[in-house]
Amino acid sequence: MSSTPISTSARFRISDRLEQVGFSDIVQIRNKVMDLRAQGVQVHQYEGGEPYLATPDHIKDAMSRALRDNKTRYAPSSGVMELRQAIAKKVSERNGIPAKVEDVIVVNGGMQGLFGSFQTVLNPGDEVLMFSPFWTPIKDLIVYSQAKPVFVSTEEARQNGIAETLAKYSNPRTRAIYYNTPQNPSGVVFTRTDAEAVAKFVRDRDMIVFSDEAYEDLVYDGDHVSIASLPEMFERTLSCFTLSKSYSMTGWRVGYVVAKEPWMTGLRKTTLYSTNGVSTPSQWAALAALATPIEFFAEMRAAYRKRRDLMVNGLNSLGLKCPMPPGAFYAFPEVTRIDRDSRRAASHLLEIAQVATVPGIVFGQHGEGHLRFSFSTSPENIKAGLDSMKKNL
Ligand SMILES: Cc1ncc(COP(=O)(O)O)c(C=O)c1O
Repeated sequence: MSSTPISTSARFRISDRLEQVGFSDIVQIRNKVMDLRAQGVQVHQYEGGEPYLATPDHIKDAMSRALRDNKTRYAPSSGVMELRQAIAKKVSERNGIPAKVEDVIVVNGGMQGLFGSFQTVLNPGDEVLMFSPFWTPIKDLIVYSQAKPVFVSTEEARQNGIAETLAKYSNPRTRAIYYNTPQNPSGVVFTRTDAEAVAKFVRDRDMIVFSDEAYEDLVYDGDHVSIASLPEMFERTLSCFTLSKSYSMTGWRVGYVVAKEPWMTGLRKTTLYSTNGVSTPSQWAALAALATPIEFFAEMRAAYRKRRDLMVNGLNSLGLKCPMPPGAFYAFPEVTRIDRDSRRAASHLLEIAQVATVPGIVFGQHGEGHLRFSFSTSPENIKAGLDSMKKNL
């Protein structure tokens, strides 16, 4: 993603800090898909990471109302008070995190919450454990904090014991763990027993947790457990949430972080000096989103579950071994049958069957040999892509 600079002077370089972080190569796949579509080819698109549903009307109406009522001026940098109160209530009641309003900050989506959290806690030389395969930007966010990501295979941890495996990758510089459940890209959901094992490990070593709960409302089998709800974990956890996936609000850029001091002071600074808060009307819309009746989620999950079953059963029947993901909206089959190199497998699938996916290697070494298929699309689109693979593979 680099282009030729205007000057070759050594001073015409972006900062070393930014040189070290990458751009996600999901962009390259999107470009290929766009090329094909421009040629009039019908592409079965599973490469995305967005809810297929539209943002619910009551949230859009709240946005219109906020605009009509001129709620368009600076809001407090940490968020509109009514929204922060609603978030504190939501995380206390639904996540079991006993948060007060001062423990809540509103941010521009999960990404800004994670960015601020890593910047708040990490110092150069700190090491951060993270289960792998992982959501690609996390590695870069950690590197941007001048810390070192240390990859721990989720599969190995589940086979050999979570605490034992984490211990194997730890040393005195290990400061924190990035804990994502449900996981992107694998759809793995950590159970309460898993969360307790991680929590004990973290408490015993006086470590900090970055908890990424972006897919908290998309758990099909089992329950979502917020690690900060476990004993003595709230004070050592920065819990990052987003409205993107729960309410189909990816473009609205609203999320929140729940954490105690000293972390909240750091988060207030990263937010103040980056965006100085979140768009005011979007925050009023977010307040309406949080008031959505709980039944909405049961209906949404049922619709995703139907798509998941269709996609995963279809992939398995094509001989692409795929475990049933208990959460999120991705299937992550092994595709070594197509090609051991996941980039080549993705290209091949796009060329011969017009099926767009994301190569597993994008999610780290532990993702190699796999492709990520999003099932957040219509059942018709899932069936059409599966048919095309059946005919052409
Ligand atoms: C695991 C995970 N965390 C966080 C996010 C951030 O989402 P957003 O910035 O849209 O709120 C995503 C988005 O894809 C994700 O997959």
